Amino acid sequence: MSGLPASIATLLRRYDRPGPRYTSYPTAPQFQSGFGEAQLREAALASNGDPIPRRLSLYVHVPFCMSPCFYCGCNRIITRDLARAETYLARLYREIDMTAALFDRDREVIQLHFGGGTPNFLSPAQLRDVVDCLRRHFLFSSSSGRDLSIELDPRFTNPADIAQLAAIGFNRASLGVQDFDPDVQAAVNRIQSVEETRAVVEACRAHGFRSVNIDLIYGLPKQNPEAFARTLDTVLDMRPDRLAVYSYAHLPELFKAQRQIDAADLPDTETKLSLLQLAIDKLTDAGYVYIGMDHFALPDDDLAQAQQRGSLHRNFMGYTTHADSDLIGLGVSAISHIGDSFSQNPRDLASWQIAIDNGHLPVFRGMTLDEDDRLRADLIQQLMCQGEVLVAALERRYDIDFDSYFADALAKLAPLQADGLVRLEPGRIVVGSRGRLLLRNIAMCFDRYLDQPAQPERTAPRFSRAI
Ligand SMILES: C[S@@+](CC[C@H](N)C(=O)[O-])C[C@H]1O[C@@H](n2cnc3c(N)ncnc32)[C@H](O)[C@@H]1O
Ligand code: SF4
Repeated sequence: MSGLPASIATLLRRYDRPGPRYTSYPTAPQFQSGFGEAQLREAALASNGDPIPRRLSLYVHVPFCMSPCFYCGCNRIITRDLARAETYLARLYREIDMTAALFDRDREVIQLHFGGGTPNFLSPAQLRDVVDCLRRHFLFSSSSGRDLSIELDPRFTNPADIAQLAAIGFNRASLGVQDFDPDVQAAVNRIQSVEETRAVVEACRAHGFRSVNIDLIYGLPKQNPEAFARTLDTVLDMRPDRLAVYSYAHLPELFKAQRQIDAADLPDTETKLSLLQLAIDKLTDAGYVYIGMDHFALPDDDLAQAQQRGSLHRNFMGYTTHADSDLIGLGVSAISHIGDSFSQNPRDLASWQIAIDNGHLPVFRGMTLDEDDRLRADLIQQLMCQGEVLVAALERRYDIDFDSYFADALAKLAPLQADGLVRLEPGRIVVGSRGRLLLRNIAMCFDRYLDQPAQPERTAPRFSRAI
């Protein structure tokens, strides 16, 4: 395998098995249908009780996309009927109204993110109306650290629209690219030019966006190291502040569009590892810092700075600098994390609409974390964000003796330690350089639920592979 030391390649192959990405702990398959509207109301009420009002993060899901990318594993609906946006927004406004009523008005919104699907399926005027509606219902922070971010599909973004987004207050954008190679683009049904992508990046810069992220995927059909190297060079030439390089999660049982992909076109494990190594080498050479779990950032970007300060946080939106806020998810499939609870809206549009039309908060499953969940969630956050676990602090915070409490987990960790993925130092568990690409395997040792079945709703494979 080119470039990758044989011992590390062997390791990566050994640990290439399905596992959660830990955007939450416990992970979504553990959410239960017994958690509904009443439990969500209770969690929201309790979360208002802090002496210093806890801040809020808002997430708005816009499910629509103009055309189907075959690799896509997101919750999305393919349509070119723009009228569907209005019908959707009518329900979204009702959901905002019902949800905002649960939260004290002195709780500041420090972050608002639009994800999808394709949020720019909505016109700038529609996006402005949604943000205005949220501003009427919530108190937006005036702090310079307040983030308004949006996922943009450059194929359908008019660079002239960026000025309007900036005027609404958007200051961060994330652009889907995946790969610029024509053969790969044809194989995944996503034809996107370098020029249209660059034009959106430049418009974001020109209008003062604080950061621009670009998403790439390795492991797509027809990818090979030579062509992927060209994609990486082209993207690096645009100098995004952040880069996400995701491992392609191929779960055709779960995502119908992926059945359009000919499995014979997928790179084998060796090639996939070379693609990953290529990305790491090129990004590191270009001065990007590895944040963890597929994410890279320039050293002066807020994510890299937050990691330095130890204040990085990971949630359903990926890595964020806004720890200690409650997350309110709005729209179909959106997930909330309020106090010690997780809850999720229905993943199909009809159920979400019906709940709202009947005057209900559209929650279909969730869970309340117990003390053990909180402890493990805390530990997994530390692993994912800081690459180390501070044992003594956890012992104090949760009143446990770490070694006896985690005897099982430490036994599972022993082979990873022998393989050099982690080091057990006095008072700390430290992720070694070999373990940085295998964070989810390390976290899996501490996941109490992995040996248990998921909630009955799902029968298809639950998790993608590590590499
Ligand atoms: C909601 S999309 C981004 C915004 C917009 N819809 C677009 O595609 O430009 C989120 C990102 O998820 C990633 N993604 C989607 N399906 C994936 C899969 N099966 N495996 C890995 N990453 C995937 C892609 O990198 C994609 O850019
Ligand atoms: S990758 Fe983006 S544009 Fe493509 S189908 Fe998925 S959400 Fe839609």
